[in-house]
Amino acid sequence: ATHKLLLLAGDGIGPEVMAEVKRVIGWLEREGLASFAIEEDLVGGSAYDAHKQAITDAAMDRAKAADAVLLAAVGGPKWADVPYEARPEAGLLRLRKDLELFANLRPAICYPALADASSLKREVVEGLDILIVRELTGGVYFGEPKTITDLGNGQKRAIDTQIYDTYEIDRIARVAFDLARTRRNKVTSSEKHNVMRTGVLWKEVVTKVHDADYKDVELEHNLADSLAMQLVRWPKQFDVIVTDNLFGDVLSDIAAMLTGSLGMLPSASLGAVDAATGKRSAMYEPVHGSAPDIAGKGIANPIAMIGSLAMALRYSFNQGEVADRIEAAISGVLDAGKRTADIRTAGAEVISTQAMGEAIVAELDAA
Ligand code: NAI
Ligand code: MG
Repeated sequence: ATHKLLLLAGDGIGPEVMAEVKRVIGWLEREGLASFAIEEDLVGGSAYDAHKQAITDAAMDRAKAADAVLLAAVGGPKWADVPYEARPEAGLLRLRKDLELFANLRPAICYPALADASSLKREVVEGLDILIVRELTGGVYFGEPKTITDLGNGQKRAIDTQIYDTYEIDRIARVAFDLARTRRNKVTSSEKHNVMRTGVLWKEVVTKVHDADYKDVELEHNLADSLAMQLVRWPKQFDVIVTDNLFGDVLSDIAAMLTGSLGMLPSASLGAVDAATGKRSAMYEPVHGSAPDIAGKGIANPIAMIGSLAMALRYSFNQGEVADRIEAAISGVLDAGKRTADIRTAGAEVISTQAMGEAIVAELDAA
């Protein structure tokens, strides 16, 4: 099948790392491993410069029609003073909202060649491969009331509200169990049912979904504070971790630091399956931003972006074996001592963004 892919390169280093994704896509097509119908559009500051909007309706229509969206990064100091509704991040938020991307997937994979760049000891992280599934559209970041009130006696009161409905927990749990079946068949669900009502419901619904439809998957419950501790003590005990928006935000950043650099981390955000077409909306993007400090220098690390393409192949296009080959090529290039500046290690050869893309394609060719 031909994959309909929308590329949104965005701002800063976005176009530089997206160029290397195109190089890998070109290789996949030449080898007959995948075929793509590619569209491109603007998002973020570059869309504001052209249209005075962070993303246009036309681009949104293209995103909805695509099988998957690949986004690089948005933002930068150039757009610090644009109207709030048109700020670069508004483009990202609209994509997430209109595509209903409720499940955020953050893998933490530690390539052996970079194990010494982790904040932890080599034996703790070498070969690490875990996946955090974070609920992205509910919880305390969105719940109402959300207010700061002046109490009049020199005191103020701030309120945020954590709300979860059964259907929101049910659908994220199903994403986690489905993913676990393609991996090591284990899900760790995390909340704080000891002090939070939402935690009680979370645990109850995840258990119910498990017992009804996923008995073959191992399920464990782990309080979020204890999980944070376990993540830095012995992260290899986990496979898939499923958690709410707030805990997921914190836990995924902890997991990110187990693996080294920001330039290495891909992510995916999945939406609901459309009942009529059977299609699941999806957006894939590196965790890093537009890195204005290095934009235009040709030194950005394209691996997070190329890893995001691999995730699209695995999760949207059912081509996990092609994704494995891309990740193996990345690992091979790192093993050969090639590094972009952000992941430089002693004795390694520091190369440009383009040279890293070329090296990954050469490694794919050689495999
Ligand atoms: P950042 O992720 O852009 O950069 C943080 C640091 O990491 C910088 O020193 C940068 O040079 C480095 N870095 C990031 N990606 C790299 C790569 N691929 N290769 C080598 N080095 C890399 O975060 P920062 O500086 O906080 O934000 C910069 C801009 O990006 C802001 O406008 C921010 O709003 C935006 N941003 C956008 C995101 C997105 O599009 N999803 C996410 C985070 C920030
Ligand atoms: Mg965060």
